[in-house]
Amino acid sequence: MKKVFVFDHPLIQHKLALIRDENTGAKEFRELVEELAMLMAYEVTRDLPLEEVEIKTPIGPCKARMISGKKIGIVPILRAGLGMVNGLLKLIPAAKVGHIGLYRDPETLKPVEYYCKLPQDVHERDLIILDPMLATGGSATMAVDYLKERGASSIKLMCLIAAPEGIEAVHSKHPDVDIYTAAVDERLNDHGYIVPGLGDAGDRLFGTK
Ligand code: PRP
Ligand code: URA
Repeated sequence: MKKVFVFDHPLIQHKLALIRDENTGAKEFRELVEELAMLMAYEVTRDLPLEEVEIKTPIGPCKARMISGKKIGIVPILRAGLGMVNGLLKLIPAAKVGHIGLYRDPETLKPVEYYCKLPQDVHERDLIILDPMLATGGSATMAVDYLKERGASSIKLMCLIAAPEGIEAVHSKHPDVDIYTAAVDERLNDHGYIVPGLGDAGDRLFGTK
């Protein structure tokens, strides 16, 4: 209950420093976000069950272990979560992808829903929500609410930078959701941005500012 995994791997910390840098442009930012998601997927999938299989190498029979038919769902929160999807799909190509569209009202900082399309069997899947930024936690909490309303019971949240306020908000309502992040930053500023963070993740990914 209430688990937060912070990745201290040097490759992850190096790439995180690069995406924080204001001089990193959209092309490099996109590539790095995808790479970070791929590296973090290694840990997020650590508890996938394995089953023994019998295969034949060119030398002879071999008992090996493979992932035992577990169904995974990846759920990016639009827009910025999209930048992490391919990193996970490269490692888990059979995963289905659902999308939840939320934007933060700049005045209230509350999430507003504008799109939701999920795999039909979402309740049977182990779900990984993707969003680079966990700020107030409003968007992630609403995404978890949605998934649970549709019957999901196994949900993880993967972000790149989390604020303490966001972790607290998600875990106070959903203590069962493990949070995976590359960093926990200091705080939020008056506009709900993470300090020092990386700015607006959606704008930096898609070059909209
Ligand atoms: C950003 C970010 C998260 C949300 C985090 O999206 O990608 O979804 O803010 O903030 P919260 O924890 O306070 O809810 P934004 O609302 O800016 O939308 P966008 O991805 O479309 O730019
Ligand atoms: N959304 C972002 O993109 N960045 C923040 O720092 C907070 C919310």
